[in-house]
Amino acid sequence: MILVTGVNGQLGYDVVKELKIRNIECLGIDIKDLDITDTNAVNEYILNLKPKCVIHCAAYTAVDRAEDEEEVCNKVNVYGTENIAKACKKIDAKMVYISTDYVFDGLGEEPFEVEGNINPLSVYGKTKYQGELKVKEISDKYFIVRISWVFGINGNNFIKTMIRLGAEKESLNVVCDQIGSPTYTADLAPVLCDIVASEKYGVYHATNEGTCSWAEFAKEIMKMEGLNCKINPIPTSEYPTKAVRPLNSRLSKKSLVDGGFNLLPKWEDALKRYLTELRG
Ligand SMILES: NC(=O)c1ccc[n+]([C@@H]2O[C@H](COP(=O)([O-])OP(=O)(O)OC[C@H]3O[C@@H](n4cnc5c(N)ncnc54)[C@H](OP(=O)(O)O)[C@@H]3O)[C@@H](O)[C@H]2O)c1
Repeated sequence: MILVTGVNGQLGYDVVKELKIRNIECLGIDIKDLDITDTNAVNEYILNLKPKCVIHCAAYTAVDRAEDEEEVCNKVNVYGTENIAKACKKIDAKMVYISTDYVFDGLGEEPFEVEGNINPLSVYGKTKYQGELKVKEISDKYFIVRISWVFGINGNNFIKTMIRLGAEKESLNVVCDQIGSPTYTADLAPVLCDIVASEKYGVYHATNEGTCSWAEFAKEIMKMEGLNCKINPIPTSEYPTKAVRPLNSRLSKKSLVDGGFNLLPKWEDALKRYLTELRG
């Protein structure tokens, strides 16, 4: 039995779907079933259920709001994760912790290696990294998987926003100096399932292949959706947000390849399949 947290979110939803396709017994839960910040409840829940693995997709993910809500962000991403790691440890269960490119500062143009220089620029990034440290400290059967620019059918994301705005507006300003890789949850889920089936513990990066800027991503969305909305590339300095984001979010997939796991398909291919999925 595999327990998946955050089933009402983008990733948790597709992870449960994939486990079911593989006929793997699983249970997807969210905050209404179990608040991960409640230490006693987490302990009791996991010790009762005795999953052989927890894929921990639940998190506080409101990156800009986190700048004003550090305490609650910390509680969910650090202490919620610690609660799960401690319970997993007690029953000798494997644990997958989903982390982010925002643990890096985005300097330079090279892809960040898994053991690259950690220097988060935002509250969200800091708490996700503190969560990684808790997992490493408590568990000896852990997989930390850093992902970026996530999109899935279940939840809001950049693509859905672009489609909505693209239908309303003639042009849109989109930042062109943040470079990274989109991650389609339906492509990531099978790789996560392969990873948890192994005993190749450690840190991984997993995103769709290829890189782009948000402006290039937006242009491709408009093109594939047949929307006549012009994308004006602008620098980050002209689009200030509460949380500072890394300019370079390129992630090296070396550990994924070394572990013998599949790379995800190219992001353009993922986008095409996602738009088909969206159309239902
Ligand atoms: N989205 C991205 O672009 C991105 C990029 C890099 C890494 N990640 C990481 O990838 C993972 C999955 O992201 P996602 O986009 O699927 O997230 P998401 O759609 O925001 O889903 C997260 C889920 O966690 C739940 N949750 C929040 N607080 C909780 C609590 N105290 N107890 C139990 N559940 C709680 C949320 O419930 P509510 O909605 O009710 O709060 C939500 O259903 C996260 O670890 C995230 O940090 C995401």
